[in-house]
Amino acid sequence: MWWENAVIYQAYPRSYADSNGDGIGDLPGITSKLDHLEWLGIDALWLSPTFPSPDHDWGYDVADFCGVHPDFGTMRDLEELILEAGRRGIHVMLDLVPNHTSNEHQWFHDPAKRDWYVWRDPKPDGSPPNNWKAAFGGSAWTLDDESGQYYLHNFLPEQPDLDWWNEEVRAEFDEILRFWFERGVAGFRIDVAHALIKDSQLRDNPPATPTDSPTWQRIGQHPKYNLGLPEAVDVHRRFRRVAEEFDPPALLLGETYVMELDALMRYVVPDGLQLCMNFAFLHTPFSADRLADVVARTESLLPPGSTPAWHASSHDDQRFATRWCDGDLAAAKCGLLALLCLRGTTLLYQGDEIAMEAPTVPPERVRDVGGRDPCRTPMGWEDRPGAGFTDDGVEPWLPIGPTDRNVADQRADPQSPLRLTRDLISLRKHRGLLHGAYEPVRDVPDGVWAFTREGGALVVINLGDRGARMSVEGAIVICTDRDRDEETIGGTLELRAREAAVVTMS
Ligand code: GLC
Repeated sequence: MWWENAVIYQAYPRSYADSNGDGIGDLPGITSKLDHLEWLGIDALWLSPTFPSPDHDWGYDVADFCGVHPDFGTMRDLEELILEAGRRGIHVMLDLVPNHTSNEHQWFHDPAKRDWYVWRDPKPDGSPPNNWKAAFGGSAWTLDDESGQYYLHNFLPEQPDLDWWNEEVRAEFDEILRFWFERGVAGFRIDVAHALIKDSQLRDNPPATPTDSPTWQRIGQHPKYNLGLPEAVDVHRRFRRVAEEFDPPALLLGETYVMELDALMRYVVPDGLQLCMNFAFLHTPFSADRLADVVARTESLLPPGSTPAWHASSHDDQRFATRWCDGDLAAAKCGLLALLCLRGTTLLYQGDEIAMEAPTVPPERVRDVGGRDPCRTPMGWEDRPGAGFTDDGVEPWLPIGPTDRNVADQRADPQSPLRLTRDLISLRKHRGLLHGAYEPVRDVPDGVWAFTREGGALVVINLGDRGARMSVEGAIVICTDRDRDEETIGGTLELRAREAAVVTMS
């Protein structure tokens, strides 16, 4: 299948490219950047939500699953983007948000669809039906004065949860999927795929545990009964049946936001989501031992025939160039090399390719309830006031961070993260070296993560603070110091601190 060794690029439409000078990125803006994406060599473009939304959660509160947000353009603009991407061999994926709708969705106001949502009476003392907390804080229940009942929302009160035990909800989403697949959409990223099903008895959650995600540790609750229930797989299977009606089958990429690999594996089934995002990997500290360990454990737990999906940044999680690398360019290039040499599918978030950092957003410019603005600031295209994102002089919806890391300059610089990203993507595609099984190399110096790929590559990543040496006969194919590309290794590979290389062994 096309996605098995693919690079999927996530664009956050509001911050990618602004074609009409209103400070908000839009669909024609993305279309205007397809040449960049084709040059980069990506296989698919995943767009964060493009649907009409009142934007309490910046598009993840959907008011119409079959429309286009007027800030981003029209249905024609989206069709044009799909067509132009297709001409360049790029698949377009949208972001389906099935867990909840906006409270402005017409379903939420339709008495005939009341049981599409989770409504419950208060406890006798008037308090919410159980102790569940919302991911953004506060109770997961909001009282509707008119009916005297509470409705459930795992996120904001403006995002009522759908009741996925309800057959009508399932049938409605079959049609939504078909609607988009018939329009040439190649697949969906499935938002909150791990949380579609909640405990039907609505039992109280226990206190947080040390292995809970940072969000849930902060909230102080282990989301045992409202997130991560295995029954969500039945919903994924249903999506998959619809995906298989199309040729090629549409791709379902799950936002399976669980921290434990064992929990992740519940969703890795042959007839459900084809790809499950690995947040245990994303949240691993940038240390050779820890990364080698989480990758080895992932590989050993994955059932035969399944494809891992790796990512290090997103519109929710701090950018990897900041979180993992504290801005250090050499470290960021090591991160990119690792991501692009692993087995399976790699997801890049817009800006990863230039090692874009997450700037501080001043309090008066904060837009997001969840503190995620720093990873959503406009893309750096050029070193100028509007960053090439919008016209110079326009104040964009979120402030522009430093523009010294930008696409234009990095295209001209052979040592740049951008050129490295492009050349690694090309290497994945055009020589068999980075194909086949992942095998860890066990006897390595401190600070080094090394592995082989069945196709013949040896990948050595030195994340330590000192140089490292390994016995190798062969030649460097790509090094993070590009002056070392094609260097012959006559017995000993020497890597400087924060240097990494793909090697062919002789
Ligand atoms: C997903 C999205 C995130 C959003 C949440 C609620 O986790 O990635 O941006 O806030 O769902 O819709």
